[in-house]
Amino acid sequence: MRISRGVLVVAGLLTLTSGAKPCIVGGTVTSVTEAPWVIALNTTQSNSSSGRYCGAALVKPDKIVTAAHCMDEATSTYYAVQGRADLGDPTVGRVSAISKVWIHPGYNTKNNRYDIAVLTLAKPFTGVPVLPLETRARADAAGAVPTVYGWGETQDTGPDETLQKAAVPDLGDKTCLANKSYVANGYAAATNVCAGYLQGGTDACQGDSGGPLVLNGRLLAVVSWGEGCAQPGNPGVYAEIAPVAKALEAQLRQDR
Ligand code: ARG
Repeated sequence: MRISRGVLVVAGLLTLTSGAKPCIVGGTVTSVTEAPWVIALNTTQSNSSSGRYCGAALVKPDKIVTAAHCMDEATSTYYAVQGRADLGDPTVGRVSAISKVWIHPGYNTKNNRYDIAVLTLAKPFTGVPVLPLETRARADAAGAVPTVYGWGETQDTGPDETLQKAAVPDLGDKTCLANKSYVANGYAAATNVCAGYLQGGTDACQGDSGGPLVLNGRLLAVVSWGEGCAQPGNPGVYAEIAPVAKALEAQLRQDR
């Protein structure tokens, strides 16, 4: 994903990087067999010819969960891709248009809260394993080690436009609340997860937004924002699922 979108959508400085190409930074290549529910949320408006833009997670055959800030282009320009680890290879995987977009009503572009959206697929990905929602708030606890998935920038730590994953320890809300700029940018203990490494080196990055943070086989949170990528003292901020699970479940019950 390109930095431009992140800069435009999330409060400017949050997503600015040095201009380097940060996918997941410090991760390893993974397969769509291991993570069949990870979805590339592409758009024809992408700066990349592959369409790469954001990540998402398949939570029902016809529903994906992504970040609200990813939905800044016309709905008709988006398409969900499943089963394509290398976005440069359009011969593999399945594709669906998006028929409906639901943005969490609490989504706030000033403080980045409730950065969650549910999209309905025009053509359901039937037969693909789905990722259940984490509904328990206590799952977000320091010491847990969830894994983040995405096709975003790697800052030259991995191949371009290829699905990567990285284990990013849950640092606990206190860690992000101790960072003044994170508080200023709206980090909220009740609705965010603070994960990564205080020493830097491994993190989600531009283009990973909306992608899944997975713990114990459930969708714990989605990639939301960070100051730069993989920088010391600036962990990744994720939009937590449990506090919005009831609202999401209501959406998952909606028909196409
Ligand atoms: N906002 C970014 C995007 O649109 C995701 C940033 C995540 N950054 C981080 N350092 N964890 O792709």
